[in-house]
Amino acid sequence: MYKMMLSDVDDSELKTIVDTLKDGDIYIEIGVYYGHSLSRVINATKNRNIKYIGIDLFEDYQKSSDNTHEGDAANCVALYNYLSDLYPAEKIALHKGYSSDVLNSFPEIQSGHIFIDGNHTYAQSLKDFLIAKRVLKNGYISFHNCSNDRHPDTMYIAADGGPYQVVEDIKSDSDVKFITKVDKLGLFQRV
Ligand SMILES: C[S@@+](CC[C@H](N)C(=O)[O-])C[C@H]1O[C@@H](n2cnc3c(N)ncnc32)[C@H](O)[C@@H]1O
Repeated sequence: MYKMMLSDVDDSELKTIVDTLKDGDIYIEIGVYYGHSLSRVINATKNRNIKYIGIDLFEDYQKSSDNTHEGDAANCVALYNYLSDLYPAEKIALHKGYSSDVLNSFPEIQSGHIFIDGNHTYAQSLKDFLIAKRVLKNGYISFHNCSNDRHPDTMYIAADGGPYQVVEDIKSDSDVKFITKVDKLGLFQRV
């Protein structure tokens, strides 16, 4: 039996992501953990023709002062087996590795959504974003934990600005258009 750890991605944030996805898209989640948000996105869009890609350090994750993740680590194969029992395996790919390195190795994606929910330091959130906008030609890029009034987002702001500050800074980036903030989720469209 797969042990699912729940995440703090709520229904309104999930709906905001799900509403952007259409037939032919690729959905990439940076920071999968036990697959709670990924499996909910898959479940809500399984009747659309979408490919789902998860990127995480999985069991290679090690606690460090420059990584905001403090929980345990999920096993990549166990999660893949769980997801592929529920949904068509050929539509799902999990990549174990450092988010920006893995994403940087991808070919261009014509349309999709990249959800950034990995290491929430300012430096890594910005790096993930800069690579995401290079890889993704059309679609959406979103950030989790970019509010300025919720836990743990306020902790990330106090440390180095975190995803909140990245979102504020990239509002002036002409490669993306700020669309909305829903609870702790910030949504941009690639333009
Ligand atoms: C907040 S959790 C993701 C929660 C998940 N999106 C959900 O809602 O169910 C963050 C995850 O990012 C992963 N992570 C942290 N830093 C990473 C990095 N540099 N590259 C890849 N994954 C990373 C951690 O291992 C952890 O599983």
